[in-house]
Amino acid sequence: MLALRVAAEAPHLAMVETADPDPLPHEALVRVRAFSLNRGEVLDLRSGAEGTAIGWDVAGLIERAAADESGPPVGTPVFGLVRRGAWAELVAVPTSQLAVTPANVSDAEAATLPTAGLTALRSLELGGFLVAKRVLVTGATGGVGQYAVQLAALAGAVVTALVRDVEKRRAPLQRLGAGSVVDVVAGEFDLIVDAVGGTTFATSIEHLAARGVVVNLATGSPDEIVSFRAACFDRAPGATIRTLNLLDELNHANTRADLARLAGLMHLRKLVAPLELEAPWQDIGRAIQALLTREISGKAVLHVGRSRD
Ligand SMILES: NC(=O)c1ccc[n+]([C@@H]2O[C@H](COP(=O)([O-])OP(=O)(O)OC[C@H]3O[C@@H](n4cnc5c(N)ncnc54)[C@H](OP(=O)(O)O)[C@@H]3O)[C@@H](O)[C@H]2O)c1
Repeated sequence: MLALRVAAEAPHLAMVETADPDPLPHEALVRVRAFSLNRGEVLDLRSGAEGTAIGWDVAGLIERAAADESGPPVGTPVFGLVRRGAWAELVAVPTSQLAVTPANVSDAEAATLPTAGLTALRSLELGGFLVAKRVLVTGATGGVGQYAVQLAALAGAVVTALVRDVEKRRAPLQRLGAGSVVDVVAGEFDLIVDAVGGTTFATSIEHLAARGVVVNLATGSPDEIVSFRAACFDRAPGATIRTLNLLDELNHANTRADLARLAGLMHLRKLVAPLELEAPWQDIGRAIQALLTREISGKAVLHVGRSRD
């Protein structure tokens, strides 16, 4: 099969002919039709060992069902996530991290769901029952952010979206369910999903309501030091700071059911995929560049095929 692998030289990617994956009994072999890019995995390319398999989010067709019969049969359209190897023609996916793609959901839409959608969903769940709660989503224009805004609004929360450019972002984010779109954090929040990190993380801590929760998703750099006024945190009795690591979560929670929940919402057109760019996977360099230079916000999806048609 063809697969993308880490390469030493910029753009740190190479398309190589390599052996097909050899699935374990609990894994289905998926013929990849589309995958999406996540900021985290794209940034990791530079530090990855040469030849390493890459890619988390995938949508495609079951090529070979899992030997333990825990997953869907051959030919079923599915989407899911792996720790590495999704940027390829074939990938072995644990059936616990795989769900059926509904008929009216495209491969591209499904491929945006796993990492961004699950991260948004699990972050919001840390806030408990969200009806009428004040939820702030920072980095609201991103993949995680756009899903978090939509899911929080669906759950009945009063959603504030933090962005850099309010004029440009207000209308699209209001369409997704944001009540307010702001570029400065003000007021108190019961739940803050922080997809920016750094000073935004620090500011978020200062704006928690009593028993509020801030979920820290993003770390700008390994050396980043975050400082906040302790008195502003202390003013909110019972407030907590939570971390969330999706890859770690995969070991503990019902990923398949959560993927199915997200796909179900998309099937009902209650959840919109934050699709910003679609291209053949041969053009991945351009897509990565667009993501890193912030030419696009939201998700870039690459379609997998031997030719460009
Ligand atoms: N912990 C986990 O398990 C986990 C899982 C998934 C993602 N993440 C992390 O969560 C973060 C978001 O992920 P993503 O995939 O959604 O990335 P993304 O698509 O790049 O979204 C980040 C968004 O943040 C916005 N932003 C940047 N600085 C901002 C600021 N100061 N104020 C307001 N908005 C700002 C950007 O908007 P502009 O368009 O204005 O640049 C961008 O749209 C990344 O750091 C990612 O690594 C963590």
